[in-house]
Amino acid sequence: MNKKRSQFAIVWEFRIRAQKRRPFEEAYRPDGLWGAFFRKGEGYVRTELIQYREHPLRYLTIDVWESRRHYEHFKKQNRSEYLAIDKQCESLTTSEKRVGEFVTVGEPNSLKPRASADEAVLVRTAALEDIPRILAMERDSPSAAHWPELTYRRMFRENQPLRIVLVASQAGEAALLGFVIARVAADDCELENIVVSRKRQNRGVGTQLSQSLATEARKQNARRIFLEVRESNTAARALYEKCGFAITGRRPSYYTDPIEDAILYTLQL
Ligand SMILES: CC(C)(COP(=O)(O)OP(=O)(O)OC[C@H]1O[C@@H](n2cnc3c(N)ncnc32)[C@H](O)[C@@H]1OP(=O)(O)O)[C@@H](O)C(=O)NCCC(=O)NCCS
Repeated sequence: MNKKRSQFAIVWEFRIRAQKRRPFEEAYRPDGLWGAFFRKGEGYVRTELIQYREHPLRYLTIDVWESRRHYEHFKKQNRSEYLAIDKQCESLTTSEKRVGEFVTVGEPNSLKPRASADEAVLVRTAALEDIPRILAMERDSPSAAHWPELTYRRMFRENQPLRIVLVASQAGEAALLGFVIARVAADDCELENIVVSRKRQNRGVGTQLSQSLATEARKQNARRIFLEVRESNTAARALYEKCGFAITGRRPSYYTDPIEDAILYTLQL
């Protein structure tokens, strides 16, 4: 079950040299040098770069991590690279001050990054070669449905019953960000599994997969998409509700290990 809890934020203030605005922003903006470096770290959430309205040579950065422990661990593990980037950026600023450490208040999702145009997500029909990456994501996701590799292979070889298998990836990159699998039978399309890689969750990929599935299902003449989900799976339920699914039933104690009710959702196409 996903618990909503505070995230850790560290805020820095920079005074930068005149003429250095552009390289400074390139290094410190969310998709800049530091952002790319932090993204390698487990528990990194996002970076914001903000500029004082009245002092164009003064900026704040806000680095958000799931916890202070994630931040400290990352710094410790990547100390030499951290110091090297810091040194590389030294000439851009006249001073740098740690404003302090903070915790977020309220819903952490309000701080989540959204995919921006330069990290466009593409959704396409999956191919046999995608199976190892699909499996790796599925195995890494305890709340996903789990199937043996053979089931995936049969899906591509036989495609009986008819299946829609879509994968999401970042434009120009081979790595997968997520996948969705659904079975179509006459008017019905059953969403059987949807997974987004941990590092890219809560950034709109699931929404894109679900919307693409609706488009594909319509093409196959399905009239509705239905699914069941553990009652405690708040992330998945939020995704389905955001995508227009309505609750249409409950199956008491449907899941085992641990025992839990299934909530049934349906989207009319
Ligand atoms: C369920 C899952 C696929 C959602 O994918 P995602 O890419 O993270 O979803 P999105 O970023 O598109 O978010 C969709 C909505 O759900 C909400 N949401 C996402 N993660 C959430 C979380 N952990 N807690 C609460 N709400 C969450 C988002 O806020 C968003 O709504 P908003 O845009 O109105 O804010 C992803 O969490 C996942 O892979 N989970 C593990 C596998 C799983 O449980 N699959 C479903 C069961 S088969």
